[in-house]
Amino acid sequence: MEAMKRTSTCGALRSSDTGNIVVLNGWVNRKRDHGGITFINLRDRYGITQLVVDSDASEELKSIAAELKNEYCIAAEGRVRARPKNMVNPDMASGEIELVLSRIAILTRCDSLPFQIEAETDAKEELRLKYRYLDLRSEGMQKRIKLRNDAAFAVREHMISEGFYEIETPTFIKSTPEGARDYLVPSRLYPGKFYALPQSPQLYKQILMVSGFDKYFQLARCYRDEDARGDRQPEFTQIDIEMSFVGRDDVLGMTERLMGHVFRKTLGIELPAKFTRLTYDEAMELYGSDKPDLRYELKLQDFGPYVEASSFQAFKDALAQGQEEQAASAAKGIANQGGGVKALVVPGKADYSRKQIEELEAAAKIYKAKGMAYMKLAAGPDGKARLEGGASKFFADNADAVTSGLGAKPGDLILLVADKKRAIANTALGAVRSRLGKELGLADPKRFEFAWIIDFPMFEWNENENKWDAAHHMFTWPQEKYHSVMEKDPGSVKGDLYDLVLNGYEVASGSIRVHDPELQKRIFRIVGFNEAEAEKRFGFLTEAFKYGAPPHGGIAPGFDRIVMIMAGQSSIKEVIAFPKNSFAVSPMDDSPGEVDQKQLDELHLSIRYPEKQA
Ligand code: AMO
Repeated sequence: MEAMKRTSTCGALRSSDTGNIVVLNGWVNRKRDHGGITFINLRDRYGITQLVVDSDASEELKSIAAELKNEYCIAAEGRVRARPKNMVNPDMASGEIELVLSRIAILTRCDSLPFQIEAETDAKEELRLKYRYLDLRSEGMQKRIKLRNDAAFAVREHMISEGFYEIETPTFIKSTPEGARDYLVPSRLYPGKFYALPQSPQLYKQILMVSGFDKYFQLARCYRDEDARGDRQPEFTQIDIEMSFVGRDDVLGMTERLMGHVFRKTLGIELPAKFTRLTYDEAMELYGSDKPDLRYELKLQDFGPYVEASSFQAFKDALAQGQEEQAASAAKGIANQGGGVKALVVPGKADYSRKQIEELEAAAKIYKAKGMAYMKLAAGPDGKARLEGGASKFFADNADAVTSGLGAKPGDLILLVADKKRAIANTALGAVRSRLGKELGLADPKRFEFAWIIDFPMFEWNENENKWDAAHHMFTWPQEKYHSVMEKDPGSVKGDLYDLVLNGYEVASGSIRVHDPELQKRIFRIVGFNEAEAEKRFGFLTEAFKYGAPPHGGIAPGFDRIVMIMAGQSSIKEVIAFPKNSFAVSPMDDSPGEVDQKQLDELHLSIRYPEKQA
């Protein structure tokens, strides 16, 4: 049979095409027989069109139609016919018409399917990833891959319009420190030497600034050997950006315009021109998280002022211990927030059972809280609010002050966490807040709430290794006023460092960078890199900075995460064509895989298996 090349797609035909003879190519989505008439829904990337083999069709056509099964790849020729009014399908773009077939060619057959191709499959993830080519045929995956394409296009369109160059940086590099483990590539030519795959193009983009390319961007592949989570993959894509001669607000403004363009172009949504800004300290105090979901209120409140007049010894002890430790730190010139007692008022949830409250307490304990107290608010006979249950007996004498101070109403539940470290009270209750947000469905899935978190601490104490780590990375500019106290009290130093959060996810991170080699060396020393080691690892960067480095800064929005949130999903696997599973394995091609002894020999490698697997 002569080849039937398509003249249209399965999403294009309308009633204005009635009478035309067309050829469609695609996959059998569904077939139904109705008293001698066969209906076939043919699907391609563009949509679905109903094909009809009428009862008066030739025997040959009928026998080919009889043979068709789901997912056969076929070519179909026919005449476009308007459907009778009562048969129009308003849910289908091509629902006004059908194609009355004159010829069908089976291009390829399809084995029995591991799962049915549906708009959204409920097949197990392992199966979806093993047969990813089939999973990708589903309407949901097709839409999400299109969304990703559209978003990438909008990113490029916007960045180029603002005068940025897209510049590729190498994939085989010297290790870049982003805090995760590197993926390594052994060198054949140099026994014992390895390239690292970039955790990000960080050092290269800074060097591009030294080279005078003052506005750089790249849709950059990044590789990090860390445990996978819903919003994390071993390889992922950043919209990597760097600019020269800018301050923090220039970078934030540019990012706001970029997000505005991407959301407008791909979703038709108008974002606010400026995003809310919270300092890191505010975010921790109000939400107990540096990536708060701002689609709902539910703010943490300071409960400290009510503790003194109460008889709750455990809370008093936490505050007293916090105060002692704060004084001891102050004597050494080290900043310490002291203790804290924080409260969360959950409107209308006084009917929560003990079990429900215990489950929330378990969430707080994951974040090191020793426990979580609660009180319930009931309406007393006089109509006034009355504290009941849990810790209420300790606050009987100042119940009015507590309830009016917290703005709590009868029927509300009050949750309380105290700790000698204020940060623990905050993060533990913050975890309870986000759990409640999910449990009570407080977040509107259609809303997009962006916020900047600024003024992050530069350094964080690594309890396991007993040393200071860079909170973001070592190339962040410490705010000017801390330069003189940096070595004495690293914990107090704020960096010119910012994160963009969206609906409870960190979607971008960046900073103004150090461009002064001496300041850079001081930072290396604080995080425990001695001169020789810093020289070995990043010497090329400090060397480059000797040759007229411009002041610069940048940011890297996580592209997969942004598209995931735009698509209303909670796993980035849903917006990546070929992701790895939670064990960093691709079930489709079974990577990582073993290699031949010959390849190992060429790379000068021998394998020492862990004891268990030997
Ligand atoms: P950072 O490490 O914070 O910063 O990464 C920037 C953004 O990339 C996304 N992201 C990830 N997405 C998916 N899977 C992962 N494993 C993963 N890790 C990070 C997040 C994150 O906000 N070089 C700096 C940026 C800079 O300073 O300019 C960097 O990489 O959305």
